[in-house]
Amino acid sequence: MAKIKSLFQCQACGFQSSKWLGRCTNCGAWDSFVEIFPEGKREESDLPQKSKALPITDVAQEEVERLPTGSSELDLVLGGGLVEGSLVLIGGSPGVGKSTLLLKTCATMAEMGFRALYVSAEESMGQIKLRAERIGATTSNLYLMGELVLENILEELERGEYRVAVIDSIQTIYSHQLTAAPGTVSQVRSVTFELMRIAKERKLPIFIIGHITKEGAIAGPRVLEHMVDTVLYFEGDSSRELRILRSFKNRFGSISEVGIFEMTQRGLVSAKNIGQRFFSRKRAQAGSAATVVIEGSRPLILEVQALVAPTSYPSPKRSSTGYDSGRLTMLLALLEKRLDLPFNQYDVFVNIAGGIKIGETAADLAVIAAILSSFRERPIREETVFIGEVGLTGEIKEVMMLDNRLREATNQGFRKAVIPSKPLQDISIKSFIVDSVEKIVDWM
Ligand SMILES: Nc1ncnc2c1ncn2[C@@H]1O[C@H](COP(=O)(O)OP(=O)(O)OP(=O)(O)O)[C@@H](O)[C@H]1O
Ligand SMILES: [Mg+2]
Repeated sequence: MAKIKSLFQCQACGFQSSKWLGRCTNCGAWDSFVEIFPEGKREESDLPQKSKALPITDVAQEEVERLPTGSSELDLVLGGGLVEGSLVLIGGSPGVGKSTLLLKTCATMAEMGFRALYVSAEESMGQIKLRAERIGATTSNLYLMGELVLENILEELERGEYRVAVIDSIQTIYSHQLTAAPGTVSQVRSVTFELMRIAKERKLPIFIIGHITKEGAIAGPRVLEHMVDTVLYFEGDSSRELRILRSFKNRFGSISEVGIFEMTQRGLVSAKNIGQRFFSRKRAQAGSAATVVIEGSRPLILEVQALVAPTSYPSPKRSSTGYDSGRLTMLLALLEKRLDLPFNQYDVFVNIAGGIKIGETAADLAVIAAILSSFRERPIREETVFIGEVGLTGEIKEVMMLDNRLREATNQGFRKAVIPSKPLQDISIKSFIVDSVEKIVDWM
């Protein structure tokens, strides 16, 4: 009998080597090699049937059927509902609410008449029942299954007439036919492949929950993200109530929309009155300024807080939460150079209230305003918003969707706006046009 040669595979990228390596030569990951056992060769006669190439004009178009999920926020992120036969991967940090969201979604869909299966390989049925009771997700059309083995899950999916299914989570399910441990590249790949096959075959939409790594990427191989139709990430601090569901890939819709939820005793609910969630009306303190950012297609008012305090260190501290720290350093250098402010003797801390991360530059002006306000110990009048990008030369640049932002600000009771250009439409807000950082100082 021929000796079985061992083979090692990187769990991050799938690279194979005949020797164990401490660091993958392909992707650079450390300690990612595990031993795998190569499979035998297939017989020539096993060749599957060949598919025929057709002119594109003769190919019948597939109609995309979308099912409502019962949550307006989730529907929005999915691009207008859950597409039949699609595979949706949801990743997020521990305790962010992945299981809660999908259990509730299953129950709501089950109530609408779509029989649902929730497979959990992480928690006991009793534990899930407890959560279901708490969030009001008990309906006889929702089936629970505590199962780790892929083959048993597939059998159940084949047998029951399910219209939606949830797999919690991909890293804990394993195929009985493979010897590798759950969560390894070969397991995740083959489990996902089998789920994809059954999803397409039976037009069954399947949600897959994925763990994430310390760096925030979905744990396991990148191929997972390539294989599924939609990749969603759940963001938010599990110690706070607000959660943002963002789409990173969607074969059936745009990825520009986000869903905003609130974690309550009754589970995750669409955050109502989002406008008022991220800022407090009473901002009489120095070091606070309001701005309007665009999340998906929705304007959102955020509060930027800054603390400027004399430093006791040789090199002053700069720290930023929710705002790019590189940009903060740039703005401070600009203020020092253009306005002659001695920031080299001060520690500067910036924070975006509500645990939100700002991904756009329109908040620059508000950051400057908050810093100046804290530096001078002079509060900004409550009814003012600051919108504008600051360039390296100190000029204030225009931002996209200015009118939408200003309209939201007026809706939320703001009466003054410091902005880089005139709004296109007539909006009942008093605007102050500033074109350089020096002008803001004049205004404050
Ligand atoms: N009684 C409660 N009232 C309010 N919120 C609760 C309550 N019980 C749990 N939670 C919230 O639910 C969260 C846990 O949600 P869930 O189990 O859905 O997270 P998960 O993303 O599935 O986590 P994991 O990755 O560990 O499976 C907790 O972090 C907490 O915020
Ligand atoms: Mg969970």
